[in-house]
Amino acid sequence: MIQPTTPDDASAIIALAVAAGMFPANETEALGKVLADYFGGNLDKGHVWVSDEEAGELCGAAYYAPDLMADRTWYLYMIAVRPDCQGRGHGTMLMQHVENALRMSGQRLLLVETSGLPNYERTRTFYEKCGYEKEARIRDFYTAGDDKIVFRKVLNAD
Ligand SMILES: CC(C)(COP(=O)(O)OP(=O)(O)OC[C@H]1O[C@@H](n2cnc3c(N)ncnc32)[C@H](O)[C@@H]1OP(=O)(O)O)[C@@H](O)C(=O)NCCC(=O)NCCS
Repeated sequence: MIQPTTPDDASAIIALAVAAGMFPANETEALGKVLADYFGGNLDKGHVWVSDEEAGELCGAAYYAPDLMADRTWYLYMIAVRPDCQGRGHGTMLMQHVENALRMSGQRLLLVETSGLPNYERTRTFYEKCGYEKEARIRDFYTAGDDKIVFRKVLNAD
């Protein structure tokens, strides 16, 4: 079941991000700060975390926020599913949940970003299966040789 993330989920989200390979275990400080700022009300308006639970355990999470310099354009900053829950539709459901929430409030565009490295190929395929179009490649963004790929979906096409 997908619902708003609560402060009790914060440590499970950090563990999930590490388990899903998004951060090394010793580099979670920035994520911990984002979560602390979110629950402390210190982030800009519009930031949203949602959690996906199965049998009382966190199995996925997503975090999205608006671009303040654009008209109803949003970024999905993070989506992750626990490795033992991957490939069973949780990621797709999280994505649809985020898109539907944004559509309901009249938002326009959702951007998602990931690495261009070969080990992110399944993630890129996931975004394409969710209906995202590859829009841009920023060469050497993450580090030399590690490009950022930006995907885009129009939310209010019909
Ligand atoms: C990418 C991710 C969120 C997808 O969630 P998911 O619950 O595994 O995805 P779903 O079950 O809804 O969709 C499965 C499809 O996604 C793709 N996929 C991507 N990563 C996958 C994985 N590790 N396991 C299985 N399928 C994966 C496949 O194309 C798959 O389609 P298939 O079942 O026809 O082969 C999840 O695998 C994950 O957390 N990966 C690691 C972290 C990550 O890359 N996050 C993205 C931020 S850069």
